[in-house]
Amino acid sequence: MSIDIAVVPVAGHGTRLLPATKSQPKEMLPVGRKPVVQYVAEELSAAQIRRVLFVTGARKSAIENHFDEDQSLVEYLRESGREEELAELEFDRNKVDYFYTRQSRQLGLGHAVLCARPLVGNQPFAVALGDSIIGLHAQSTIMSRMLEEYDRTGADVIVAVEEVPPQDVKKYGIIEPAGPIGNRIDIRRLVEKPAVNEAPSNLAIVGRYVFSPRIFDELALTKPGRGGEIQLTDAMQRVLEQGGKGVAMRLLPGEKRFDIGNFGSYFRAFFDFAISDPKYGESLRAHARKVLDREG
Ligand code: G1P
Repeated sequence: MSIDIAVVPVAGHGTRLLPATKSQPKEMLPVGRKPVVQYVAEELSAAQIRRVLFVTGARKSAIENHFDEDQSLVEYLRESGREEELAELEFDRNKVDYFYTRQSRQLGLGHAVLCARPLVGNQPFAVALGDSIIGLHAQSTIMSRMLEEYDRTGADVIVAVEEVPPQDVKKYGIIEPAGPIGNRIDIRRLVEKPAVNEAPSNLAIVGRYVFSPRIFDELALTKPGRGGEIQLTDAMQRVLEQGGKGVAMRLLPGEKRFDIGNFGSYFRAFFDFAISDPKYGESLRAHARKVLDREG
């Protein structure tokens, strides 16, 4: 696999999750046993990504602490024979190196990715948004499939997409397909958060990307768009307008997307992960049934 570096933007304020996110990043909220961003890191590691660059912001230091080795905690667990808990910390010693840079001003997702340029340089790279999990317990191969697509075709823009209900197209970047809609779709055009009557399809971008370095040149030229922010989708559209090639890869039926952007979707994600927990899932299901029967 030729691409081994991924950028994970985690600078957003998480205002839709206040007060839970007042002093901790939304990416650190637990979903079942792990914080959201750990699932993202595990998904990337499973796709052979070996360097992860977080684009962070104010109040995000908990993310750095989470991926750092905590020697005193390790020693304490080792000395007290707590092998099971010790095993839970192995993720921070996996084969991935973590790097951090700051986006000091909230100028949008496109700007956050551009902040990675001095470190990524002139090489292709992946992007995974730090507030969404793909697949129950991150059991997804979407990133590997996207990286294979890059190896095979060298496309400049590769995005993961899924169909969303028409009323939801206004929440996402939407692609216009250039050909038949299979698991791999050529892209004609991309538009950020279109109105329902202007959307070229209901295929929504779900926060996983692979880019050739051409994206940086276009990001540097992209003016603020939807919401007054520098939009990654607008820069991708610019790449296509300059003759670049764009491909969308569809999530497979089992690859459910868990978005931690608001309390509704966060609660659903937590519930799904908790009821499928190997140790506590069964009893939680029974508990949920009892509570619901009592109500009904
Ligand atoms: C961002 C992107 C959008 C994408 C979405 C996926 O929007 O701008 O194109 O579809 O993530 O979650 P946001 O949710 O940050 O507003």
